[in-house]
Amino acid sequence: MTALLTVKNLSYDYPDGTPALRGLSLDLEEGAKMAVVGSNGSGKSTLLLHLAGCFAPQRGEISLRGKAVGENLQALKDAIGMVFQEPDDQLFMPSVAMDAAFGLIARKVKPESALATAQACLERLGIAHLANRPPHRLSSGEKRLAAIAGILAMNPEIILLDEPSAALDPRARRQLISILKGLGKSMIIATHDLEMAKTVCDSAIVIQSGRVAAEGSPDKLLGCEKLLEECGL
Ligand SMILES: Nc1ncnc2c1ncn2[C@@H]1O[C@H](COP(=O)(O)OP(=O)(O)OP(=O)(O)O)[C@@H](O)[C@H]1O
Ligand SMILES: [Mg+2]
Repeated sequence: MTALLTVKNLSYDYPDGTPALRGLSLDLEEGAKMAVVGSNGSGKSTLLLHLAGCFAPQRGEISLRGKAVGENLQALKDAIGMVFQEPDDQLFMPSVAMDAAFGLIARKVKPESALATAQACLERLGIAHLANRPPHRLSSGEKRLAAIAGILAMNPEIILLDEPSAALDPRARRQLISILKGLGKSMIIATHDLEMAKTVCDSAIVIQSGRVAAEGSPDKLLGCEKLLEECGL
């Protein structure tokens, strides 16, 4: 069966010459939830930014349902919603509710309907009371939940989350884990939260210096202390 999303030999150096990805390959099956773990600087965010169509591959290829994306980054942008590692990179509207509704409005959904969907997502994440607040005045955990609400509202085919549980209090983290687990969606989660990875994901890759160092079931992989130690986790 053709995978939903395929990455083959993806390499990327930042403009200052820093190598971030060095021949990384992966397959995401339809409906699968994959954890991407690796030490600081191993290349997780750079990988996700490629998958979301923010960066064009310098070498290698990304395919959606077997079709090479090539220069058509819009194909990735249409299929994928990404929660960025830094909520400040994502939140920009004057209120949390408008921010969460923005993506839908940009896709020509009527504002009332977009706002209703956004409000439902805020409720689901336990932050309905923040709807009218300006996002830049929220705490860092509140900002993260607001950023996640905007992506849930869009209901994209594939969701990418970069460190979604960082800065969340234990209750918000549990709530998020339960939401992600319950979403019948293909997902890639870059995280240092190995417990969340084990609970939510059905596969995992460990990346090290921009390459896949190991892949397998989260329980097996993330239970292997020697591997985690070797990969700086
Ligand atoms: N804008 C940039 N310019 C130059 N180098 C960068 C830039 N952003 C990231 N890098 C480098 O690229 C490599 C991969 O970084 P990346 O942010 O993808 O790592 P990460 O696995 O997401 O780390 P973290 O766990 O800290 O979020 C690192 O060596 C990093 O220093
Ligand atoms: Mg990162």
